[in-house]
Amino acid sequence: MKKGRMTFPVILLALIVFLLSVLIAVFAISGCFLHTAYLDPWKKSYQNRFEDPRLKLTAHGLLAANSHNMQPWKIKLDKENSSVFYLYADSSKTTPEVDPHARQMMITQGSFLEYLKIAGEKLGTPVTITLFPEGVYDENNLSASMDTYPVASITLGKAAPKNTPLYDGIFLPDTNRGIYSPTLPSAAAVSLLTDTQEYSGISAYLYQAPDQVQSIGQIAMDAAVIEGNTKRVMKETEEIFRANEYQKNKYRYGFSVEGQGSKGIMKHFLQAAVTLFPSMNSGKAQTDNFMNSTRTSIENTPSYLLLTTKDNSRISQVEAGMLYSSCILKAHNLGLAMQPLSQALEEYTEMISVYEKIHSQYGNGDTIQMLLRVGYPKQSAPLSMRQDVSSLLLK
Ligand SMILES: Cc1cc2nc3c(=O)[nH]c(=O)nc-3n(C[C@H](O)[C@H](O)[C@H](O)COP(=O)(O)O)c2cc1C
Repeated sequence: MKKGRMTFPVILLALIVFLLSVLIAVFAISGCFLHTAYLDPWKKSYQNRFEDPRLKLTAHGLLAANSHNMQPWKIKLDKENSSVFYLYADSSKTTPEVDPHARQMMITQGSFLEYLKIAGEKLGTPVTITLFPEGVYDENNLSASMDTYPVASITLGKAAPKNTPLYDGIFLPDTNRGIYSPTLPSAAAVSLLTDTQEYSGISAYLYQAPDQVQSIGQIAMDAAVIEGNTKRVMKETEEIFRANEYQKNKYRYGFSVEGQGSKGIMKHFLQAAVTLFPSMNSGKAQTDNFMNSTRTSIENTPSYLLLTTKDNSRISQVEAGMLYSSCILKAHNLGLAMQPLSQALEEYTEMISVYEKIHSQYGNGDTIQMLLRVGYPKQSAPLSMRQDVSSLLLK
């Protein structure tokens, strides 16, 4: 009897010690105790680390949405003119399987440039952007061209700082992969999001009719099934997955579990699990995760926005990216969220039939550059990794 009474607290204590040890192990494996340096650029005060106004603007540009979160931007400061700098596409950050013609990479250059524009107005250094100031790429020598020819020259002017309503949205995450409410975007929102006056040759269409939403969703799902089963494309994505806080701080670009909707303590359990068992995020498991999350997204989407361009030139691709960023910033102000669903627009061989289908049904003879879910989100989106300005700087 006496022995039994002694045993219970001992067992309880042992259990508590065991559970605490598991918790500490989980946190240690996940890297929970580390400073999340990869999130520093999201702080509004981050720009104050830089004296040079060109770097202050860059600190804003790198918060833009970008394909696969590769952040493929390089900047070069003009040594003779302190008001000028150049944006280059980073040829070491292409994703050739999913984006064989680097089209998404060019859109990503545009999304960066639009952020510079908005930040320039706010800071009193309005920018003049000239696309491909030294000529466009040699398409037969794309990688070397990216290193040689700037995508844009950016010239800073001087003006009184302006209170632009779009500025605060720069510091919000642009991609919400969660559930959206069935409520349709208001008529005012539709007219703002489809206003493309600033860009000739670019159009924006917002589809809300149930049959169109259903049909676009079906095309997007068909594309996700193809992508999920195209091993080399999935492998490319898997290779840029950062399993824990150590990896996120090391690379500061690519994907992580937050993008799949994990938060708080669950995020650390998942990160510990994926670190210990990488197979949880590769092969069939990765394909199933991707297809299931796409299905849930599509089933909870009230409308789709399509951005199209008359031609598919490099300049049009960059301009489509600028329009995309401006749509996102407007959406933030309207309380709307967006998520690109790019698979149907990708140009690799396996995707051709779906690419042709969406273009024949919704392209109006143009190239569809972006297909986006749009709606009022049920939950806010997490912040994703960002590199430091210094990592973008070319000597
Ligand atoms: C050209 C382009 C294509 C994209 N395609 C997809 C996509 O197919 N699915 C998706 O969930 N996000 C897509 N994104 C969003 C990026 O993954 C996202 O911007 C990046 O991970 C950074 O996250 P943030 O936008 O929340 O800052 C795309 C972004 C761009 C610019």
